[in-house]
Amino acid sequence: MRWLVTGCAGLLGTDVVAVLAGHGERVTAAARDDLDITDPEAVDAALRGHDVVVNCAGWTAVDAAETHEPAVFAVNAVGPALLASSARRHGARMVQISTDYVFDGTATAPYPEGHPLAPVSAYGRTKAAGEWAVRAELPEAHLVLRTAWLYGAGGRCFPTTIAGLLADGGPVDVVDDQVGQPTWSRDVAELVHHLVVRDVPAGTYHATAGGQVSWFEFAREVARSAGHDPSRVHPTTGGRPGRRAPRPSYSVLGGDALAAVGVARIGPWQQRWAAAAPYVLGQRPSESSPSR
Ligand SMILES: NC(=O)c1ccc[n+]([C@@H]2O[C@H](COP(=O)([O-])OP(=O)(O)OC[C@H]3O[C@@H](n4cnc5c(N)ncnc54)[C@H](OP(=O)(O)O)[C@@H]3O)[C@@H](O)[C@H]2O)c1
Repeated sequence: MRWLVTGCAGLLGTDVVAVLAGHGERVTAAARDDLDITDPEAVDAALRGHDVVVNCAGWTAVDAAETHEPAVFAVNAVGPALLASSARRHGARMVQISTDYVFDGTATAPYPEGHPLAPVSAYGRTKAAGEWAVRAELPEAHLVLRTAWLYGAGGRCFPTTIAGLLADGGPVDVVDDQVGQPTWSRDVAELVHHLVVRDVPAGTYHATAGGQVSWFEFAREVARSAGHDPSRVHPTTGGRPGRRAPRPSYSVLGGDALAAVGVARIGPWQQRWAAAAPYVLGQRPSESSPSR
């Protein structure tokens, strides 16, 4: 199989390329400079000769998205639509990466895959539109993978921010009123590979670690892993100043669709963080570096 990975220089794209290469797959890794997914001709040319496209490109700055929604829509909805229609023309499958932000975060039990979408932010609205576009263009050949709270070695993320603040000596205030599932981007990348190779039915699957935790509790875990006193992390509530986009307070995704096709979900977040921390916090070199 020949794979095209868009957004390959991002947090998730870095791991998807590394994991696919590690499995011996033939991968074309396209960063934004190589392929702008909002350019129809470039997208169609890029798809040629590929069997699978994994779209890791996206506008992910959720606060800036509030004041730039048309531009965000181009990247998060039109781009996936172009990739999907080219994939259809070229007979390729597509993996579209989506997000917990397509839900409103008011649930009290894990969101099933089929729960109605109700995004409360510009980012969430545009990602929901991207999901629909991909399903419509490729009804039999899409996988929509919703993930959340990603961390990884391929870019700045919550654990590296917390570890940096603690290393700088200050106390750190972290919200305790938002819960979710911290998820290692490498685990999502492995799941992408597994689902495509297994040729699971087209559909929407949740790709998050198991369990749930608040940002505050996760930050304390990060502090422990980084060798800092966890009591230097203090709980707080409410948004930080300058945060325009509302955050879902409950971002826990259920994994029934994976179970239905006989695929194990990603392990519990504590276990996965324990495995990931040395790589993410830079205490160990990355096992495989991305190839371009
Ligand atoms: N991070 C999370 O916690 C999280 C949670 C749930 C879902 N997701 C989803 O996971 C996917 C990957 O996210 P990530 O965390 O890896 O984000 P990221 O690090 O911001 O990577 C996104 C990549 O997309 C590229 N990009 C932006 N506009 C593009 C365009 N028009 N054409 C081609 N590439 C473009 C960016 O390039 P530039 O940097 O040059 O702009 C960047 O390299 C996204 O779909 C995101 O919505 C992420």
